[in-house]
Amino acid sequence: MTERVRQIYDRKASSYDASVGRAENLMLGDFRKQFGALMRGDVLEVAVGSGLNLPHYTAAAISCTAIDLSEGMLAVARDRAEKLGLPVTFVQGDATHLPFADHQFDTVGISLALCTVPDPAAVLRELRRVCRPTGTIVLLEHVLSPHRPVALLERLLTPLQSRAMGCHLDRPTIDTARAVGLTIESEQSRRLGVFRLVTAHP
Ligand SMILES: C[S@@+](CC[C@H](N)C(=O)[O-])C[C@H]1O[C@@H](n2cnc3c(N)ncnc32)[C@H](O)[C@@H]1O
Repeated sequence: MTERVRQIYDRKASSYDASVGRAENLMLGDFRKQFGALMRGDVLEVAVGSGLNLPHYTAAAISCTAIDLSEGMLAVARDRAEKLGLPVTFVQGDATHLPFADHQFDTVGISLALCTVPDPAAVLRELRRVCRPTGTIVLLEHVLSPHRPVALLERLLTPLQSRAMGCHLDRPTIDTARAVGLTIESEQSRRLGVFRLVTAHP
């Protein structure tokens, strides 16, 4: 599945920003801006994609590292970081096996990607491993809505979305975060509980 997802995002890299563009603001509101402001100290962004959060990073991000499976997406992110004048160390790799030491980062963030990885619990455990015990894990994700009609729609659309983008709309990702041992510190919700911005401690 990981190889299939990599191929999907390599193929979609040049059109990704345009395809998420307008719908993004409607769905996410200021969640990306808040996500960027939460990136502090030694920062790791996992599954950085085309780097849509990077413009929202602030001076509080002292050192920035970003990883993604897709070289195509990383190329777009590299270009974005260069235009922003933001020094970022980009790494190609798999979020399921992060090539970083235990407790290396103050903040570990991920956005709209726990829906595409084969095993979200394994990735959440990796985020926890590389985050300092006093650090913060930031999740900006779409999840299974607590509202039954919306959840039903998400379940119905998941096979299509999975085929097109490797993305699952029906994952209870915040419950999974709790189940792997993360302590949720704050949680905001938009669009009938579909979009969540969560801060958690390892
Ligand atoms: C929907 S995009 C989100 C990109 C970006 N985080 C954003 O918020 O726009 C999903 C990203 O996750 C990456 N990805 C999927 N599976 C991954 C994995 N196992 N390890 C690292 N990156 C992965 C894809 O290459 C893609 O860039």
